[in-house]
Amino acid sequence: MAFSAVTISPLAEVENGATVAEGSVVWQFTKIRAGSSIGKRCRIGGGVYVGAGVAIGDDCKIENTAQVFEGAQVGSGVFIGPGALLLNDSYPRAITPSGALKQAMDWTVKGVTVDDGASIGGGAVVLPGHHIGRFALVGAGAVVVTSIAPHALVVGNPARRIGTVCGCGTPVGEELFCSACGLDFVLDPATGFLEPSR
Ligand SMILES: CC(C)(COP(=O)(O)OP(=O)(O)OC[C@H]1O[C@@H](n2cnc3c(N)ncnc32)[C@H](O)[C@@H]1OP(=O)(O)O)[C@@H](O)C(=O)NCCC(=O)NCCS
Ligand SMILES: [Zn+2]
Repeated sequence: MAFSAVTISPLAEVENGATVAEGSVVWQFTKIRAGSSIGKRCRIGGGVYVGAGVAIGDDCKIENTAQVFEGAQVGSGVFIGPGALLLNDSYPRAITPSGALKQAMDWTVKGVTVDDGASIGGGAVVLPGHHIGRFALVGAGAVVVTSIAPHALVVGNPARRIGTVCGCGTPVGEELFCSACGLDFVLDPATGFLEPSR
């Protein structure tokens, strides 16, 4: 493992070949698998799983017991809420047709990708292979079955878009600008939702 100036609980396990960049903190009972990388200044809570080869950018917050399975690619400034699941196997089986325990080569990984600044609410489930756009916000407990557009606010099972959220985290209504930071939005006739004007 290669890291400097990081804080890793002695009760966490960072496998050889994983990297945790400077300024990051990893709490107890978290497992970070070989080949994965955690960027700078990340906060990784307790009981988190980061699968082999997963890449996580800088300034991310991954809350307690979130599970980020193999194949996931997570940008910078991403929030993954407590207990959220980023899945990677659409048709899971423990065994092959001959009854042997499946090995890594016996199944196809379809990882989730999350763009910079996006947030995934507590207990949300993102099904394999889907993409969460930049600054999108997935509501707590949502089950994401499609890819999610940038700045989309989605809730429910299956997750449906109910609005637009600014990069600062504020929902944007009909006033065409963010009441918190002033960013301008325009109505996209194709989607019927507001999108940033630039
Ligand atoms: C999605 C979310 C951002 C919406 O917040 P909001 O804009 O204040 O929305 P409201 O509470 O006004 O609800 C708007 C509608 O969406 C529904 N809704 C809100 N959150 C929902 C959720 N997580 N799942 C399903 N429906 C939800 C409400 O019932 C309401 O429906 P209605 O219009 O039919 O009455 C928020 O509820 C949420 O889930 N945030 C994530 C919290 C979280 O996981 N934090 C992690 C750190 S602790
Ligand atoms: Zn804003």
